[in-house]
Amino acid sequence: MNSDTVVKSDVINKAVQEGETVYDVAIIGGGPAGYVAAIRCAQNGLKTVLIEKDRLGGTCLNAGCIPTKTLVSIAGFLNRLNRAEDYGISIQGFQYSLEKIRERKQQIVSSLVQGIEFLMKKNKIGVIQGKAIVEENGVLAVEGSEERIRYKNLILATGSVASSLPIPGADAPDILGSQELLELSEVPESLAIIGGGVIGMEFAFIYAALGCKVHVVEFMPQILNLVDADVASTVKRTARKMGIEILESARALAIETTSDDHKRILMERKERQESLVVRKVAVAVGRRANLEAVDLEKLGVALNDHKNGILVNEVMQTSNPTVYAAGDVTNQVMLAHAASHQGIIAADHIAGKLSGKAGGLEKQLVPSAIFTFPEIGHIGHTEKEAKAMNRDVLVGKFPFRANSKAVAMQDAAGFVKVIADKATREIIGATIVGPDATELLSLAANLITCRTTIDQAKEVIYAHPTLSEAISEAILDMEGEAIHFGN
Ligand code: NAI
Repeated sequence: MNSDTVVKSDVINKAVQEGETVYDVAIIGGGPAGYVAAIRCAQNGLKTVLIEKDRLGGTCLNAGCIPTKTLVSIAGFLNRLNRAEDYGISIQGFQYSLEKIRERKQQIVSSLVQGIEFLMKKNKIGVIQGKAIVEENGVLAVEGSEERIRYKNLILATGSVASSLPIPGADAPDILGSQELLELSEVPESLAIIGGGVIGMEFAFIYAALGCKVHVVEFMPQILNLVDADVASTVKRTARKMGIEILESARALAIETTSDDHKRILMERKERQESLVVRKVAVAVGRRANLEAVDLEKLGVALNDHKNGILVNEVMQTSNPTVYAAGDVTNQVMLAHAASHQGIIAADHIAGKLSGKAGGLEKQLVPSAIFTFPEIGHIGHTEKEAKAMNRDVLVGKFPFRANSKAVAMQDAAGFVKVIADKATREIIGATIVGPDATELLSLAANLITCRTTIDQAKEVIYAHPTLSEAISEAILDMEGEAIHFGN
């Protein structure tokens, strides 16, 4: 490490002598990594400042998790209205107003942003709006301002940006990204989404519920490639019912504009050239760490071996020990809750609460919530992953159609799958696809994080009638003991 990269105490001492404010911690980025780290720093008694160029809350709150969940909840409501007859209710036609949906979404986002602003004030965290620039190690400037921010420790929490699709036509201004899809300026009569990952599939269901004919073009042999095939099949069944066409093993090669202002996607599918004509095309092919936000070289901050994220140790310290990184910019797990967890680790280490080897983000313990129809909740190993690792596992599976609460709710598609290590009997993975799967997930997360064995898990009594009984039954099914289901 270059000694210039360590914030020198004489720089700080001089600043203090000259009556300048020296922060214990400066944080760049106000998303789930940055603002949560700021709160924990303040709770730890550290003088903290946060610099954010846009609104507090980051991508998750302003252009990701929260606005999409507002739309997912509207899509779920529309789906139920369409199925009203199943509940014995007749509805004589209904309409939605795109303008009102948009307004409502913005109100929800704004109220949550205000919530974070309140938390910043309550915790006496200085918030500066503007683009942070690294002046020298220990000193930041803010674009367009004379102000200098001196700090002892810095947390980089600059997030991620959407990856571009390197094919002809994909950079045309009328190609939509998740930002434009969220704006809901129109619901086109047809939409092709290139990329059947989490973002692509969530938007596929939202737009289908709003009445758009949706096509998903996915390069891999399966949409939502990380989950098991039986989980993806459950989602594909609902997609089919909602009129969503899913094209797997389909690589988009080029996007053209037709003479009547439609879009034609040229693709290779199962070694054949095919094309698809739609009104609009959206791209959701992943996100990449935002490494261009500040001058990392000036800070002496190194990248990981793949050069696609900031290299951090288990306490989120970069190659410069006074600079930490948390969230998507580390490219460890690009999920908001993982980012917040990393932010807390960094804040606690700065406060001397964690030793150099403690903490760390255990990727296997990060749950994942996917808001398709039905929802998916996942934690730990999938069945295919365990098998690929040649791990000897027990697998238990229980369908919601054998769960009385799900049947009563008339929402019984899907299942719970639990896997355990055969030798240690520890539960090492769970996937839930079905009603409220993303909420039920936390029960499984508790079992897995606490390294619960099958035998300990069997001791838990689940209330009846609840959806969570399906988790208990899946655990029993690992040894053929499920009560309400016979294969
Ligand atoms: P993703 O990596 O989940 O999916 C992108 C998909 O695009 C992949 O399945 C890939 O095979 C496909 N693809 C790439 N190039 C293609 C081509 N030329 N033709 C056809 N298909 C192609 O990325 P996504 O959905 O954009 O999400 C980005 C990040 O945001 C992920 O890290 C994700 O974990 C996170 N996220 C998570 C959410 C959740 O868990 N609910 C919600 C939103 C985002």
